[in-house]
Amino acid sequence: MAQPGGRVLVTREELAQRVGELGRAVARDYAEANPLLVCVLKGAVVFFADLIRAVDIPLTTDFISVASYGGGSASSGVVKIASDLSITIENRDVILIEDIIDSGRTISYLKRNMETRHPKSLRICALLDKVERRQVEVDLDYVGFTIPNVFIVGYGMDHGGLYRNLPYLAALDGA
Ligand code: IMP
Ligand code: MG
Repeated sequence: MAQPGGRVLVTREELAQRVGELGRAVARDYAEANPLLVCVLKGAVVFFADLIRAVDIPLTTDFISVASYGGGSASSGVVKIASDLSITIENRDVILIEDIIDSGRTISYLKRNMETRHPKSLRICALLDKVERRQVEVDLDYVGFTIPNVFIVGYGMDHGGLYRNLPYLAALDGA
């Protein structure tokens, strides 16, 4: 169905269902841990907001912003932290919350960076896994949906800064 952003790939109802399942899985795995859920800005912000409300245990949140040099719709692999965490993660059970894993470069960089800070544990939760595009191997602990090689917008994800507010996931035409 054509909608703003393009063809709808995942509806808001399907998103709510799957994010609920992910939240229950995290709650089960971290029941006594007071995990620190880290939102990778900006793309993960909508997913993060829904996910944390589906994790029915005590938890803490923080935010990190990464910039990938090169711009455009493909990541160059050169990543830098544009805005860092506000708290220390040493000895914390940390879960990085990402919107989409494409080449894998951004999340690999972040994972290595976080490991230097000595968390007690570190896991990755991604809403979307574009597995065909992987260049760098990375273990994902929680995945919402595995998707084909199409450019996704909506539910936090953008193209040129637009479409983040769409409540569904769409495959952008011609991107
Ligand atoms: P990677 O470093 O190649 O894995 O790229 C990861 C980042 O690129 C994601 O966190 C997104 O910000 C962005 N990205 C990759 N694919 C898409 C897409 O289909 N739509 C929107 N953003 C994307
Ligand atoms: Mg991102």
